[in-house]
Amino acid sequence: MVCVTNYISSYHEPLFPGGIAMQTCAAVVSSFDHPPRYEAFDFPAPADPDQAVVDVLATGLHPRVRSGASGRHYSSTGRLPMVPGIDGVGRTTEGRVVYFVADDDLPGSMAEQTVVDTRRTVPLPDGTDVVQVAAAMNPAMSAWVALRRRVPIRPGQSVLVLGATGNAGRMAIQVARLLGAGRVVGAGRNAEVLAGLGADATVALTDDAGATAAALAEQAAEVDLVLDYLWGAPAAAAMVPLLRARSDRSRALDWIQIGSVAGPTIELPSVVLRSANLRIQGNGQGAVSTRAYVEELPALVEEIGSGRIAIATRTERLADVERVWTEPDEPGVRTVLTPDVRS
Ligand SMILES: NC(=O)c1ccc[n+]([C@@H]2O[C@H](COP(=O)([O-])OP(=O)(O)OC[C@H]3O[C@@H](n4cnc5c(N)ncnc54)[C@H](OP(=O)(O)O)[C@@H]3O)[C@@H](O)[C@H]2O)c1
Repeated sequence: MVCVTNYISSYHEPLFPGGIAMQTCAAVVSSFDHPPRYEAFDFPAPADPDQAVVDVLATGLHPRVRSGASGRHYSSTGRLPMVPGIDGVGRTTEGRVVYFVADDDLPGSMAEQTVVDTRRTVPLPDGTDVVQVAAAMNPAMSAWVALRRRVPIRPGQSVLVLGATGNAGRMAIQVARLLGAGRVVGAGRNAEVLAGLGADATVALTDDAGATAAALAEQAAEVDLVLDYLWGAPAAAAMVPLLRARSDRSRALDWIQIGSVAGPTIELPSVVLRSANLRIQGNGQGAVSTRAYVEELPALVEEIGSGRIAIATRTERLADVERVWTEPDEPGVRTVLTPDVRS
């Protein structure tokens, strides 16, 4: 796909009353039922001293990016055209390489250049693998913030990762260990993949409800925390057997709802909440303040930059975004888009 900048556009202009600083090539969503197209887009001028332009070096195609580009994410404004992308690695005009979290009020990171809020950036040491950082920060952040901010984990506590085979679930196993978990149980529907994830124990979520319930009861009845990336039927089916098999039901079980790949709702019998000390809460944009997220960025960047948290990646050109968008994701591999040419 070819993108030519420096044309005069009028229809983007009302989006940015502060003025247009530049045109750049970007993944542009013009309709919520069509993948983004690589084309020219007018970007706003930095509106205050905390905003700056960066050349984007790498940006991850996370599920959150897809839901934003489809208008389905709960933070979606419904405004079009838009540039998706929630984070990335970029180079400032002074030559510093930084990880950045995109500002909700500015165009996203899937562009050759974008405008960032410098208070949401973290400098990366020389030699950092920018693709790893762009790929891992979002999925790793989900467990990192859950276990540091939502329900701070205490050394030796045990964790069940429900939905451990996806990118965020895989990261959650690594993050839980790094943050001091004594025992980590991974549950997912692909038993072969589960076996290679480094969990202390695994539970295969199968169509055999009785066998799944028995395995959960045996391996995870005594966990302290659940990091739930599934929700829907598998989460509902897991709660009762876990709580029923618990040796002391008045001991707290903190269930942290993070993703909903298996369904947006669950059916929850009221007795579950009366008969055990089950505490359900969510972790995401809104449940935790932006300030708290930003405070956690440097430590997580350090863990990923040093390789202590790692992810499998596939790198594609930003210019090919329309094709890449419609291709099925490779399980356990995060796609990262990079510009054509970078020095
Ligand atoms: N709140 C936050 O801060 C936050 C941050 C990051 C991600 N998330 C959310 O967490 C979820 C996972 O993200 P991700 O990055 O890991 O996505 P991902 O890499 O696409 O992984 C999703 C995985 O879910 C598994 N899956 C799908 N349907 C399932 C089902 N019915 N039962 C069991 N497993 C199922 C698939 O594994 P198999 O094919 O191997 O079974 C797939 O690999 C998404 O909903 C995402 O939006 C939330």
